[in-house]
Amino acid sequence: MLIRELHLSHFRNLAQASLEDLDQFNLIHGRNGSGKTSILEAIHMLSLTRSFRSRQVESIIQFDSPALVVRALLDSGGDRRNLGIQRGKDKSLVLKYGGERLRSFTDLSGLLPVQLINPDSFMLLEGAPAVRRQFLDWSVFHVKHLGFYQEWSRYRKALKQRNALLRRGKLSPSMLAPWEEEIALTGAKITAMRRRQFELTEKAYQAISAELLASLGDASFQGHDVSLSMRFSPGWDDREGEGGESSLLQILEQAREQDARQGFTRVGPHRADIRFSMSGLPAQDVLSRGQIKTVVCALKLAQAKMLIAEGLDVALLLDDLPAELDRQRRAALFSVVSQLGAQVFATSIDESDLDEAWFACAEKVKRFHVEHCCRGNAEAEK
Ligand SMILES: Nc1ncnc2c1ncn2[C@@H]1O[C@H](COP(=O)(O)OP(=O)(O)OP(=O)(O)O)[C@@H](O)[C@H]1O
Ligand SMILES: [Mg+2]
Repeated sequence: MLIRELHLSHFRNLAQASLEDLDQFNLIHGRNGSGKTSILEAIHMLSLTRSFRSRQVESIIQFDSPALVVRALLDSGGDRRNLGIQRGKDKSLVLKYGGERLRSFTDLSGLLPVQLINPDSFMLLEGAPAVRRQFLDWSVFHVKHLGFYQEWSRYRKALKQRNALLRRGKLSPSMLAPWEEEIALTGAKITAMRRRQFELTEKAYQAISAELLASLGDASFQGHDVSLSMRFSPGWDDREGEGGESSLLQILEQAREQDARQGFTRVGPHRADIRFSMSGLPAQDVLSRGQIKTVVCALKLAQAKMLIAEGLDVALLLDDLPAELDRQRRAALFSVVSQLGAQVFATSIDESDLDEAWFACAEKVKRFHVEHCCRGNAEAEK
């Protein structure tokens, strides 16, 4: 499936913008502040209803406009349908696919998975555990769809109830037990899904690493002979998947008093993490910025590759990818990108910035110039 057309209304500085005849590889170029990232943000919004850079929709809707609209024409083997989203400053949300109104964002799942790589992506290694959970859950969500989402919603609800009781000093087992049972039941399922997805990600990462190593010649892309190791930490001691529900329940029961003192539940899948290390040290303390970016790109491309292998159509959003990467790394990454089978949307300031990096597929790249003007404009170049 490909996004063939993209239409934006009142999206940041872009009052009206249309990108037509989109293809497998698309380059969006223009000056600072012209609206390049906003176009990627609009695609992200179609996929997940939210932006990757602002929590508040008010920041994204054009100043003085009541609502934004994004519409894409999706082409799945000749079957063309519109997917549209309208979000208002009054918090309204309308989603439509093929002329039908969708009830909620869960109806969107699997339709248009997007993988974003931008200058903030290094946070995957350097940021808080929540960033890594989000990374892992992105693929679990797209593969398991509602199964994961529903378990996660039940888990969060039960966790909230347990925390509320603990904070009010209600430590009676009869009050806590039903919520702890629910946490243990859903928590074990969430962990099993995550663990499986983590193992697949690790395998796919090793394959992408090998491709990058081959492109970069004898210089290891991590700059070290020791390779990166990663470990999934489920947020509780489930003894490598053997403990399951009963062990989480036991841990919760034992933790009641201390959790009450802290005012929250200290163990469970809401505390899961992925630990990256090199030679026994945290990878983020050892790797350079460019090396971190390469590793993060490899991880994200590995996830995209996995979803493509599952039959999903992934759109890859590459915002300012060249930043902090040398020529060899750019070329090596783009060589992996070009063989992935994903539809690619990349941004750059100058049209020629990525020419060297795209090399083999440069001819096939569709270019769009975004004009910096008060109305906003995006035009394909003939
Ligand atoms: N709610 C809004 N209404 C109108 N304009 C906005 C709004 N929010 C942001 N802008 C402006 O819209 C533009 C959005 O820029 P965007 O980040 O997409 O630019 P860019 O082309 O990616 O720039 P850069 O090369 O610096 O990354 C900026 O000029 C910004 O000031
Ligand atoms: Mg930008």
